[in-house]
Amino acid sequence: MRLRKKPHIDEKLQAFADFVTVGDVAPIVKDPSRKLCVEVGTGKGDFIAQIAERNPQIDFVGMEVEATVVLAAARKVREKNLRNVRLLVCDVNKIAEIFSEHAVDRLYINFCDPWPKKRHAKRRLTYVNFLELYRKILARDGEIFFKTDNRALFDFSLEQFAAAGMTVRDVTNDLHANEPADNIRTEYETKFSSQGVPINFCVARFTNG
Ligand SMILES: C[S@@+](CC[C@H](N)C(=O)[O-])C[C@H]1O[C@@H](n2cnc3c(N)ncnc32)[C@H](O)[C@@H]1O
Repeated sequence: MRLRKKPHIDEKLQAFADFVTVGDVAPIVKDPSRKLCVEVGTGKGDFIAQIAERNPQIDFVGMEVEATVVLAAARKVREKNLRNVRLLVCDVNKIAEIFSEHAVDRLYINFCDPWPKKRHAKRRLTYVNFLELYRKILARDGEIFFKTDNRALFDFSLEQFAAAGMTVRDVTNDLHANEPADNIRTEYETKFSSQGVPINFCVARFTNG
């Protein structure tokens, strides 16, 4: 998703400064009495706003590099008056600087950019280098929930999960054939599903901590 940079976007985000951070992100201190879930590549925030609304007892952090789409996400969070969401305008490659070791209970990767050219494979958010960052911040029993429309990216990701010593469960190449009642559709999921594109899904976890 690449949008034209709108003017004064950072000033507009200032109106949401109570839960949106732009630029250098200070480490996030987990509330030990609450679970902490992170979504990487949050986009316009359909998913994080819905899941946070359904789970007020859990804290959610969305990481998204494009300020323009964070503004759309911030408006949804404000509209629902959610107190359990923080949005960070930053690159996922900073994730291990933001969360302390094993602080994150669950990571969501929803429809990350597929970067189809082989020479760009390292940019995919399921590339093994990213998995090594996720390993640091995920709780010992933490899991990665991964969805994509892109079959080639999905197959690549399963290989990366295996290479990182992860196990996978609930693997499907057509999530909506038997859609779980608690599935929350993202913007991209809604779009691809309406075009008849099947959605791939799995849950991955590290076996060796
Ligand atoms: C294809 S969109 C999917 C958006 C949303 N998750 C959904 O499912 O509808 C991918 C999003 O990931 C963001 N993104 C890509 N690489 C990123 C990175 N390294 N760090 C943070 N965000 C990233 C893009 O800006 C874009 O908004």
